[in-house]
Amino acid sequence: MVKQGIQCRIDPVCEPFGLIIYGASGDLTKKKLLPALFNLYKHNLLSEKFFIIGAARSSFNDSDYRNFIGSYIAEENRDIIKHFLKRLYYKSTDYNDINSFKSLKRKIVSLERSYRTGKRRIFYLAVPPLLCETIVSSIGEAGLTLSTDWSKIVVEKPFGWDLNSACSLNRTLHRFFHEEDIFRIDHYLGKETVQDILLFRFANSIFEPIWNRNHIDHVQITVSESIGVGERAGYYDRAGIIRDMFQNHIIQLLSLIAMEPPPTFTPSRIREEKVKVFRSLRPIEKKHIPEHTVFGQYVSGEIDGKIVPAYRDEKGVSKSSNTPTFAMMKIYIDNWRWQGIPFYLRSGKRLKKRVTEVSVHFKTVPHSIFKGVVSNEIKPNVLVFRLQPDESINLTFQTKIPGTSMCFRDVTMNFSYRDYSEPIPEAYERVLLDCLRGDQMIFVGQEGVEIAWEFFTPIIDFLEKGKKVVFHIHNYKAGTWGPWESDEFIKKDGRQWWVK
Ligand code: BG6
Repeated sequence: MVKQGIQCRIDPVCEPFGLIIYGASGDLTKKKLLPALFNLYKHNLLSEKFFIIGAARSSFNDSDYRNFIGSYIAEENRDIIKHFLKRLYYKSTDYNDINSFKSLKRKIVSLERSYRTGKRRIFYLAVPPLLCETIVSSIGEAGLTLSTDWSKIVVEKPFGWDLNSACSLNRTLHRFFHEEDIFRIDHYLGKETVQDILLFRFANSIFEPIWNRNHIDHVQITVSESIGVGERAGYYDRAGIIRDMFQNHIIQLLSLIAMEPPPTFTPSRIREEKVKVFRSLRPIEKKHIPEHTVFGQYVSGEIDGKIVPAYRDEKGVSKSSNTPTFAMMKIYIDNWRWQGIPFYLRSGKRLKKRVTEVSVHFKTVPHSIFKGVVSNEIKPNVLVFRLQPDESINLTFQTKIPGTSMCFRDVTMNFSYRDYSEPIPEAYERVLLDCLRGDQMIFVGQEGVEIAWEFFTPIIDFLEKGKKVVFHIHNYKAGTWGPWESDEFIKKDGRQWWVK
């Protein structure tokens, strides 16, 4: 379809469906999933025939559950909320009891008749990773996937807890679902600006020829958050920053920046290229982990003028916790394109501000003709993908300041997504819609997830099983950019953090 220079893919249709969400009373369901589904409904992006069942251990009846969820949907038009909530049901479910799943099946079958959805079922696991395998087995053993038109399953991140548990979860999933019906979510891949990295790289011809070790000096990826662990301490204190952000969001961003051009814009070809990047990650041997990483945990500090507590004083966190809330690491990709080029990855909670940015730092000019004209070195070009907030792409370069003197200055050429009148959709709207449409483009494949764990599991083991790990976790004040050791680290390499 071509409209005045705008080119759009024709989107697949969304078929009728019944969606069953496990973990229905949790944070993710109430704050993200159901509000995103409501927005899709409001914009007529869902099929007219659908129903949703929330399943969890808490006891609600349908009406209490609708009221509970209704309070999380921000919409002035109460009528439209009412219509949406009418399709929402609740079934109290004991995840360990097969009879509970059989009784859920009876509810599904009856709603399929009322809503004439056919037997098209989506099971969404919005539960902590340690519960996933039990739920998948119960879904399968209770016969919920039998004799359906199709049944799909959506699994939230972190997918598994380490390499072994991820492989085991994959095996269990494959007992009841085909790989093409498994949707492993990483909501970062649903972010508009993250998807645009591929378009930027492969729908423009000017950067690709210089996108390699000959022209790029290094790459930085920063995913910084000013929030703390909030109400998720129970999960976070066991997970830590590596499982929560690195094994998924950050490594996925890295793969989009580093991958080779796929032959076609199709899910399997893109996954193949990502897997090649993961396979090329240079493993960090246990004895070298301290030289390649910095870990931190926040102590009390000030953010936006407010004093916030130390991580160990957060509700639900152990007073002696050694869970890192900050990490930075330097990694290498051993292939022809990236040999010798460091990728600096950094993420943390309670940092100075919320910002997610990828900056590609080009090499300095090979020979400066301006030596002797200006005293300072000429600054290299930097291409920045500001993924959130203030979404933009910008490029810095040198210019002469107008005037009779020879003065240099770096300036920034900026494209802001605000220049589009279209609003940026919530990542969860995109991932849910793609899953309903059966489009796997932005979901993670089995191989990708397992190789990513292979890379990170030794680092997690170092943190959790290492004897002197406490020496490697540095305190940092909330509201700063993490431990000073992280700044020192990059300084020793003759570089500095771009986001500061
Ligand atoms: C989640 C992590 O996957 O991503 C959270 O579990 C984190 O700890 C969140 O806060 C960040 O997402 P976003 O979209 O706000 O950048």
